[in-house]
Amino acid sequence: MTTPAEHLISVDGSDVRFACAEGDTLLRAALRAGVGLAYECNSGGCGSCRYDLVEGEMHDRRPDAPGLSPRDRRKGRKLACQSQPRSDCTIKVGQMVGQARHRPFRQTAQLRSKTLLTHDMQEFVFAAQSHAGFRPGQYAMITLPDGQVERAYSMSNLGNCYGEWKFVVKRMPGGRATAALFDDTEVGSEVTLDGPFGHAYLREDGNRRIVCAGGGSGLGAMISIVLGVAARPDSRDWTVHLFCGGRTRKDLHIPESIAFAGRQLGALNVHTAISDEHDDGVRAEVEGAEPFRGFLHEAVLDRLAGSLTDFTYYAAGPPAMTDALARALVLDAGVAADHLHYDRFC
Ligand code: FES
Repeated sequence: MTTPAEHLISVDGSDVRFACAEGDTLLRAALRAGVGLAYECNSGGCGSCRYDLVEGEMHDRRPDAPGLSPRDRRKGRKLACQSQPRSDCTIKVGQMVGQARHRPFRQTAQLRSKTLLTHDMQEFVFAAQSHAGFRPGQYAMITLPDGQVERAYSMSNLGNCYGEWKFVVKRMPGGRATAALFDDTEVGSEVTLDGPFGHAYLREDGNRRIVCAGGGSGLGAMISIVLGVAARPDSRDWTVHLFCGGRTRKDLHIPESIAFAGRQLGALNVHTAISDEHDDGVRAEVEGAEPFRGFLHEAVLDRLAGSLTDFTYYAAGPPAMTDALARALVLDAGVAADHLHYDRFC
């Protein structure tokens, strides 16, 4: 096996240097080397990883990525998550985050099982070659067997030494990745897992009153955070509000592991919200109180009215959901921005 060629990347105005293997992206090579470049989605959508190329040759693997505005393009800016160096390069970044907290690595994994959770949501369990090293709330990039499709999905279990990676994924109407995952990836198929990534991980030494808000495939990250709190020695000191949103009742799913985790916590309150006013009430998968009628951020504002600033928030889901929640909490309710953790996926 030959080792891919490496290119040396220098960060302008600093003594930071790191190697990037041919075919790797600038962002991931930096994180693998422990260099904390700014990022969120890893997919070209959010624009957090913009930089200027001072010198060298860079391949852009997604030239039409929405993370760059027309003004960025006029100025020649690039996205580190979509850039693949073709020579030694010098780059200029607006903001260095210091050392990367989590170094991602790439490995092969085999699909062990797929389980239907709702009409359009499945759990996928992969067994990887080595350990599953990640924090509750983080995500991995999965490259499907055809090697063409790569997407970010949050893990729904806890990091472990036996290499088990679980994901709860909602099928996107017309989505190429979920069609390939749901329909074409059979048990036994091999994928490539690259991770962990993401900033919306559980702050274990932080506020012990937390809110986890998940919609669609974002539910997995919130399950992982609740399990992470329940596994802590001080779990009984924690209060958790878990919000799960969907369009109708048949979109809602709360796994049994949450009820088990709830018995380890000081308090666990599960809230559900449905946004379609024509919901017919069929197949209420989730037992308990009647769902809130409205969007997930409205449910959070309603159920926690009067105490919104007491909590630290974790959120994962479609951009419209996380953006609405961030606006409502930070701009309208006065929650400090550093009390809200989410990664924007676009
Ligand atoms: Fe690169 Fe989001 S656009 S991290």
